[in-house]
Amino acid sequence: MAIRNIVKEGDPVLNKVCRPVEKFDDKLKTLLDDMYETMLNGEGVGLAAPQVGILRRIFVIDIGDGLLEFVNPKILKTSGVQESSEGCLSCPGEFGITKRPMYVTVEAYNREGDRFSMNAEGLLAKAICHENDHLDGILFKEHIIRKIDPSELQ
Ligand code: NI
Repeated sequence: MAIRNIVKEGDPVLNKVCRPVEKFDDKLKTLLDDMYETMLNGEGVGLAAPQVGILRRIFVIDIGDGLLEFVNPKILKTSGVQESSEGCLSCPGEFGITKRPMYVTVEAYNREGDRFSMNAEGLLAKAICHENDHLDGILFKEHIIRKIDPSELQ
């Protein structure tokens, strides 16, 4: 495993629409392992492939319950609303209160190419929406309803 460079806001790679993964090969497994290590190193709860310069539909999440990997994800259903603080490893030092769905149903593939679906709520639902947005070139700032100072974070 290796820590990769995290692309920062302003780099056009973060504004592009990613393509689906076609091959579930060793290269994909290495990328997923590296993304996880990079995310942990940055103390984030999620990381999307374009954040390491790879324009493929992949993200990893760990909200403290272990690693979740999503390849070619599709958000099938959302409901409810949550307003809570959010940041992004590509936008260091910037935080805001965002409006996100409280509940999400997502379908994706794992690293072996097996399809799964998952119901998520709260922080996990927010993380899935945040990372999925990255795959369409959208940053969390578009969802901010109020900017907050890092010192306001608990
Ligand atoms: Ni992000």
